[in-house]
Amino acid sequence: VSMVTPTRTSAWRRLQAHRNRLADFDMRRAFADDPARAVRHAREFNATDSVLHLDYSRHLIDDAALADLFALCRECALETRIETLFSGARVNRSEGRAALHMALRAAPGDDFRVDGRDVVGDVLAVRGRFLAFAEAVRQGQWRGHTGAAITDVVNIGIGGSDAGPRMMVEALAPVHDGPRVHFVSNADGWHLALTLRALDPRTTLFVVASKTFTTAETMANAHSARRWIADALGEEAIGRHFVAVSTNLDAVRAFGIGPEQMFAFWDWVGGRYSLWSSVGLPIAIAVGAAQFEAMLGGARAMDLHFRTTRFEDNLPVLLAVLGLWYIDFWDARTHSLAPYHQPLSMLITHLQQLEMESTGKRVTIDGESVDYATAPVVWGAAGTNGQHTYFQALHQGTALIPVDFLVAAQSGHGLAGHHEMLVANCLAQAQALMQGKTRAAAHAEMRAAGLSEEAAQALAPHREFPGNRPSSTLLARRFDATTLGALVAMYEHKVFVQGSLWSLNPFDQWGVELGKELARGVGNALGTEGAAASHDPATAALVARWQALRRD
Ligand code: F6P
Repeated sequence: VSMVTPTRTSAWRRLQAHRNRLADFDMRRAFADDPARAVRHAREFNATDSVLHLDYSRHLIDDAALADLFALCRECALETRIETLFSGARVNRSEGRAALHMALRAAPGDDFRVDGRDVVGDVLAVRGRFLAFAEAVRQGQWRGHTGAAITDVVNIGIGGSDAGPRMMVEALAPVHDGPRVHFVSNADGWHLALTLRALDPRTTLFVVASKTFTTAETMANAHSARRWIADALGEEAIGRHFVAVSTNLDAVRAFGIGPEQMFAFWDWVGGRYSLWSSVGLPIAIAVGAAQFEAMLGGARAMDLHFRTTRFEDNLPVLLAVLGLWYIDFWDARTHSLAPYHQPLSMLITHLQQLEMESTGKRVTIDGESVDYATAPVVWGAAGTNGQHTYFQALHQGTALIPVDFLVAAQSGHGLAGHHEMLVANCLAQAQALMQGKTRAAAHAEMRAAGLSEEAAQALAPHREFPGNRPSSTLLARRFDATTLGALVAMYEHKVFVQGSLWSLNPFDQWGVELGKELARGVGNALGTEGAAASHDPATAALVARWQALRRD
């Protein structure tokens, strides 16, 4: 499908006109004029016992503008693009690869092909192997070199080989019944050192997760971990204490991990889309094969929803077009996430990679410069914590920051009163952002509370809330494995839709390369006095100062 420049579509021109027309749009008035707005602007994903209810009524938009966002999808041939993605075509053109993470969620009988070759058989075979291995570790059948059962698993990886599985392990903490699972990603030695401090080599298993098996941080951590085991238990212990997850068998072998201890995945799986593959091994070790399969089931149901539901009812499409509406037509530069579920805190990091590595691009898939804004800065914190840190700026700051609120109807922790408090806070924040409070109301409240006229006048501007600030609310029945699978897949597809509408390749990440490359040059200069002179003056000066401070 040839690429469409979104700004040249007729829908884009109409959207620009809508934006001008809606400059003074007031959601409060829109609700007053249309009492059914909340009901009309809600859609539900409801499959495999999981529910994701999306309320998108609190947005600076009306039906005509929404219709043109869907028209934009049509003009950009979104339907064909979705089918092309699912067909296994090499949509990641700059790397010549397919992006078929949906195949990782496949069930027997599903049909996914790359270059005409069915990949479902491979997926199911590897899945069977790593789930069996996870169960063996959990049940104490896979033991350390001394015969002791594994109590602690350390995943060594970074980016997609860390954030996805870490997010899911944390999110599934309520049902975590396997060995403890730790994640070490940072090149900073403290990350590994502090993690190992509490661990016993005899009962620790390392999972080295790296698609390429060349990532500098991961290799450094893996080699240090290897030394830690070898020093404590001898070289011959390595085989019982290390497994690898990778697409690079040769590099895994060179590290000293045999093929029987390696779990493969494929070049058509992007790092940030890999948690469904053997990269998810730590998840399976934490919660077991059945929970892992449930997570896949939820994601698979979301794939089906995305592929078969008309745009107007399609959750990933709705989230994508609303995001684009603010980024491209309202100058919003950031998008905030507020999961009101403490175990989901890491979703923010995962989505930062998913969104910003995917759509943080300034040229189209054909290499043309874009003349429109792309990826938002994604940020946020779990509720209610965020309310006591940055929500001030959401309510009274000058930036327009759309928010996704996420909350579940059921909690499962059994602590009386907490969940009602949490839900009330979540719903109230969305309400406050929309409703605001007028200066007159603030003034009247203060007078009623006994403040002098002078004090009330002086304070009123500070206690006024403009309101009319947008948010979506996603209400789940519960954040169980199935729903979490659906939720993460929903955001994956949202990003794909935005990438498609922006004519980008959402599956490459060349932007991470320059820093990696320069780090090698700077690293070489660190050890030799004066060697940084050939670098730019700021770097050279900092290296010289570092060398001096290091000696003192
Ligand atoms: O540097 C970015 C990146 O390439 C991510 O896209 C990827 O998830 C991460 O590094 C880790 O890569 P690997 O799994 O090959 O170690």
